[in-house]
Amino acid sequence: MRIGILGSGLMGGKLGTIFARAGHQVVFSYARSQEKLKRLARGSKGDARAGTPREAAQEADALLLAVHWSRVDDVLDQAGDLSGKLIVTCSLPMNANDTDLVVAHTSSGAEALAKKIRKAKVVSAFNTVPSEVLFGVFEAKGRARAKANKPDLVYCGDDEGAKKVAARLIRDVGFDPVDAGPLRIARYTEPFALLVARLAYEGNEGPELAYRFEHWK
Ligand SMILES: NC(=O)c1ccc[n+]([C@@H]2O[C@H](COP(=O)([O-])OP(=O)(O)OC[C@H]3O[C@@H](n4cnc5c(N)ncnc54)[C@H](OP(=O)(O)O)[C@@H]3O)[C@@H](O)[C@H]2O)c1
Repeated sequence: MRIGILGSGLMGGKLGTIFARAGHQVVFSYARSQEKLKRLARGSKGDARAGTPREAAQEADALLLAVHWSRVDDVLDQAGDLSGKLIVTCSLPMNANDTDLVVAHTSSGAEALAKKIRKAKVVSAFNTVPSEVLFGVFEAKGRARAKANKPDLVYCGDDEGAKKVAARLIRDVGFDPVDAGPLRIARYTEPFALLVARLAYEGNEGPELAYRFEHWK
């Protein structure tokens, strides 16, 4: 697939690199320096290049939205018309100092995003996992023991076709996709992501703890 990365930081940089290594065509966009985007593209050692958000969006089969909540409007403006596009969002609706959700309970960041770009197909995924574990999950993917014991990753969305594509990307990273239902379920997965982050960064067990939480079947 052709995948556009909107936000090439911790999450977008790593997931874009993994998607390229898994054989997808990737355009890295939206960082504060063009050199960083080029470095990511070179470092992925796959079919990847640096581009603008508009270029990333133009021919993409799927887009990954991975920016801070305060940057969502800006990156969407730069991306242009996203009608009909599949957007996998890992962006959490956090306040400026990342201490709390600014959308919760009766809505979610994913639903707020879907309202901003009504003609796009939004799937919420990858936000329940700390970026630090992504390469480890991808590298373990091929190993026999890991195959039998893959960590789960929840995702949700309203468009079944878009969810199939998202599930494939989740598998490509090395997780077992767990369909949590319609997009409104992000009201529960987004606060869950905060719990995972709190335990991962403030507890004693580090980001790998996320695996145990995700493996709930
Ligand atoms: N990090 C995690 O483990 C994690 C886990 C789950 C969910 N999330 C969510 O995923 C989203 C992305 O998180 P992240 O940790 O990947 O964030 P991040 O590392 O800060 O990445 C955001 C990207 O946006 C770019 N950016 C910021 N301001 C910009 C500007 N004015 N112009 C152009 N580019 C700009 C940054 O550029 P630079 O690269 O130049 O800084 C960076 O590439 C957030 O909503 C977060 O809540 C993160």
